[in-house]
Amino acid sequence: MAVIDQPDATVVVMVPFPAQGHLNQLLHLSRLFATYNLPIHVLTTTIHNRQATTRIPLSTTNITFHHHATPHFTSPPPDPNANTKFPTQLIPAFESAMHLRQPFNDLISSVAPKAKRVVVIYDYLMGKVVQDVVLHDNVEAYMFSCCSAFASFWYHYEAKKTPKLDSELELLLKDVPTNDGCYSMEGWQFIVSTDVSQMKFSSGTILDASRVIEGKYIDLIEQEDYQGDQKLYALGPFNPVEITHDSSHKRHQLFDWLEKQSPNSVLYVSFGTTTSMDKKEIQEIALGLEKSDQRFLWVLRDADKGDIFEGENRKIELPKGFQERVGERGLVVGDWVPQLEILGHPSTGGFMSHCGWNSCMESMTMGVPVAAWPMHSDQPRNAMLITKVLNVGLYVRDWTQRDEFVTSTKVEEVVRRLMASKEGEEIRNRAAELGAKVRQSVTDGGITRMELDSFVAHVTR
Ligand code: UDX
Repeated sequence: MAVIDQPDATVVVMVPFPAQGHLNQLLHLSRLFATYNLPIHVLTTTIHNRQATTRIPLSTTNITFHHHATPHFTSPPPDPNANTKFPTQLIPAFESAMHLRQPFNDLISSVAPKAKRVVVIYDYLMGKVVQDVVLHDNVEAYMFSCCSAFASFWYHYEAKKTPKLDSELELLLKDVPTNDGCYSMEGWQFIVSTDVSQMKFSSGTILDASRVIEGKYIDLIEQEDYQGDQKLYALGPFNPVEITHDSSHKRHQLFDWLEKQSPNSVLYVSFGTTTSMDKKEIQEIALGLEKSDQRFLWVLRDADKGDIFEGENRKIELPKGFQERVGERGLVVGDWVPQLEILGHPSTGGFMSHCGWNSCMESMTMGVPVAAWPMHSDQPRNAMLITKVLNVGLYVRDWTQRDEFVTSTKVEEVVRRLMASKEGEEIRNRAAELGAKVRQSVTDGGITRMELDSFVAHVTR
């Protein structure tokens, strides 16, 4: 796939962090920029992005990938006392990605002399890789933060204790999770803190956040940190809002089953790409789903299916006789699925999720309520946004009780409440209303579309 850089064009260079959840968002943003006819280069490592780049369908010729082989590091051994689901595999992925600095500089040196301007969009963890942008006159950089505005605001508040909170925020503060399951990890803390400090050479920050969903928190961050030359751009959702099946790919067989189910009757269960459930947890989820008497579609991959757990010896074992007892009511799928298409399907009426930010944005876009089971990092805060702030979901695992083991009884109770109660119906209606607003916001004249137009106008000036 060749891109011809035109001398007077603005060229975009994306520098994602090599983990599915981070990379996903910048690939979707690339797709959006490509609709403005901007040439885009994506710089990645080969080892960590194998699945990611093939899993996101990008039917555009404006995007060129530059895959680089970087050294391979191994994960530190898991600390048996850590009591966290934080995937330590992200640390070697980070160390490996730091070797992209030279390939990045080579790419910029080849692109910048031929372009009017080069716009570098880098994941907040990749500051060290792109720091030499300051050496070029026609290159400007924008940091991308992959979390919700809600999570970002509370991270800011924790560090600076400003602004003065209004009564609504005061009330929330007492429940905002402070231990996110990874800040106790020295290695990770160091990575995050050194890289965020690299923001000083950026012209602004881009969030996969929408003013329709998180206007209050976006405004607060803007007032706190973006009063000078740097600007904040809320360009989310990056994910598509219209579901079109890519006819060059065979449709996943799960849709044969999903098509047969009644509207809003199916709970989709999936926990992203960085969290593995242990055997006991899988048993509890299975029993909870079985006892709930509700329809479900559960994605449960073995380690060899290529998530971040690659190399782990993770083999799924369901309770004996589970599939026979559940019969046609449930479907367990063991491979990669088109999540957005599932969430956009009329039969899907709920999503049991770990609340990774992609999953949250995708379910809110499609108007699907969430049963929130956060695991680590920004997820506990995202879960709070979904359940307590926006009221479009229920907690399965309330992070303030994070030591509590989730039992099958709890799973059963929450699934019934979400899928088969008046309360669940009201939550679903609210989620549907929010979804309609989000989808409207990206159409011509919508608030997100205007912000995206304005960003593109700014960088192509
Ligand atoms: C990670 C972090 O865990 C999360 O906290 C952070 O907000 C983003 O990065 P991850 O755990 O992978 O993300 O979850 P999520 O953010 O939900 O991203 C997973 C993505 O993979 C989603 O876009 C989802 O649609 C996609 N996916 C996952 C599929 O399309 N099919 C699958 O089978 C599984």
